[in-house]
Amino acid sequence: MARHLITSAIPYINGIKHLGNLVGSQLPADLYARYLRARGHEVMFICATDEHGTPAELAAAKAGKPVADYCAEMHAVQKTLAEGFRLSFDHFGRSSSARNHALTQHFARRLAEHGLIAEVTEQQVYSPTDGRFLPDRYIVGTCPACGYANARGDQCENCTKQLEPRDLINPRSAISGATDLEVRTTRHLYLRQSLLRDRLRAWITSRTDWPVLSTSIALKWLDDGEGLQDRGITRDLTWGVPVQFPGAPWQGMEGKVFYVWFDAPIEYIAGTAEWADAHGLPDAAWRRWWRTDEGANDVRYTQFMGKDNVPFHTLSFPATILGSGEPWKLVDYIKSFNYLNYDGGQFSTSQGRGVFMDQALALLPADYWRWWLLSHAPETSDTEFTWENFQVSVNKDLADVLGNLVSRVTKFCRSKFGEAVPAGGEGGPREAGLAADLAARIRAYEGHLEAIEVRKAAAELRAIWVAGNEYLQAAAPWSVVKTDPDTAAAQTRLALNLIRLYAVLSRPFIPDAAETMMAALGCTDWTWPDDVPAALAILSPGHAFATPDVLFRKVTDEERADWQARFSGTRT
Ligand code: MF3
Ligand code: ZN
Repeated sequence: MARHLITSAIPYINGIKHLGNLVGSQLPADLYARYLRARGHEVMFICATDEHGTPAELAAAKAGKPVADYCAEMHAVQKTLAEGFRLSFDHFGRSSSARNHALTQHFARRLAEHGLIAEVTEQQVYSPTDGRFLPDRYIVGTCPACGYANARGDQCENCTKQLEPRDLINPRSAISGATDLEVRTTRHLYLRQSLLRDRLRAWITSRTDWPVLSTSIALKWLDDGEGLQDRGITRDLTWGVPVQFPGAPWQGMEGKVFYVWFDAPIEYIAGTAEWADAHGLPDAAWRRWWRTDEGANDVRYTQFMGKDNVPFHTLSFPATILGSGEPWKLVDYIKSFNYLNYDGGQFSTSQGRGVFMDQALALLPADYWRWWLLSHAPETSDTEFTWENFQVSVNKDLADVLGNLVSRVTKFCRSKFGEAVPAGGEGGPREAGLAADLAARIRAYEGHLEAIEVRKAAAELRAIWVAGNEYLQAAAPWSVVKTDPDTAAAQTRLALNLIRLYAVLSRPFIPDAAETMMAALGCTDWTWPDDVPAALAILSPGHAFATPDVLFRKVTDEERADWQARFSGTRT
């Protein structure tokens, strides 16, 4: 038994996430957490909402709400949806928590004590009407190149020319439309990441077991020098972690907060502290996951994220950790994902394109989505969601293969032997062959899950279900029962045990269906099948069961067409 710390990239607070976001970090992280728990390991699985930054402020303003209220509401919405998808976080925290404020300020102070913080004076556009400095993209005006009237201060959307705010003709605030903009002097803190380049390189190159996607992105940024330019870690905003705090090693930073990408990954640690607080546990309870001097040395820490997040997790956050000079746990393994596209284009939150978590759950239960998304996870390349493909997967894998086995076996048993595991007869070579085949496949399945090869694991699980169906087809107890009821009883007994075995193995992918199967069998024994022949004899003669309702229904052609049409436009 080992100890596993697992974090998923924390979703932005503004808006409900789409299925592409879900499969890019939270869902595969959940699969891994569930698998490790099933194998008896101790797991700490943390996620949270990423609540700071200008997008959160603007979304709140658009909703006409104070930003703190907006974030509290959206956190509750995201938490409910996470529960709906059965994401088994030990804690779903908030980056705006008191714990994260304190830890973020702690790290900043430690970095300063190690000479890793610089104070830099800059010129920045200020809007007296809005009472704030404006980031480049919140200044709009006429493009000097093409005359487009709504060009942003960083780039013209129309002709793609890169711009500086001062290039714009008739600049105005994107927030209020105010035109009385001024340039003012402001001071910011910079993290001197460049000083940590050698230590970061040594650490990254020592991680020889990382997937290519993670290492190549990290080294590209490190070698370009791009990712390691000293980086501003403060912003002129009100919503966030205050830069000026009691005991801060700098002065005059009132009205500034830390940059959202500085405090967000620290929330992985803070979220674990929030977990301890929520359970009335002392600090030692969360520190044993994070401090290598307090027990975290034997923790294996795995992070899940989309590929766009890799630089922040391979360079920026490790720079914070290493630069602190304190024994905080660094990540052991980074599992990153490509993008899931939607029906010929991209999922898009800003354009409302695709299927969003709330909409998905309104159509079908979580397991249908979990199965499709995980069995098509964008691991080696971007992949695409299409309604046709979704329908085929659900109808074949879930309804025809797994669901059909469960209903056929239980119904047959009920009609011939009653609703209890039948006695009599014994297995022969065919049964021994099935057990051997399953044992080999289960060991392969374990290997894929341990390596977090999500699609391979799904394919192996499907093959495990298929093996059961093929056995049943070949054994044909419904014919055998006419001439040899004892042998038919043994076959049926094995088949009922197969349902239990499948419930255990399938649970990380489709937890609700697994529980339905187990409940129907009147069984609570979730023991992992280390010994397959023994696992196939756990339900013994006389054990009562109940024939379950349809486990998975099929998606009809009409539904598919209807959903395709309904989700072809953009969400309003
Ligand atoms: N909110 C970011 C995103 O959705 C992820 C932040 S992950 C963490 O892309 F590092 F900040 F924690
Ligand atoms: Zn232009």
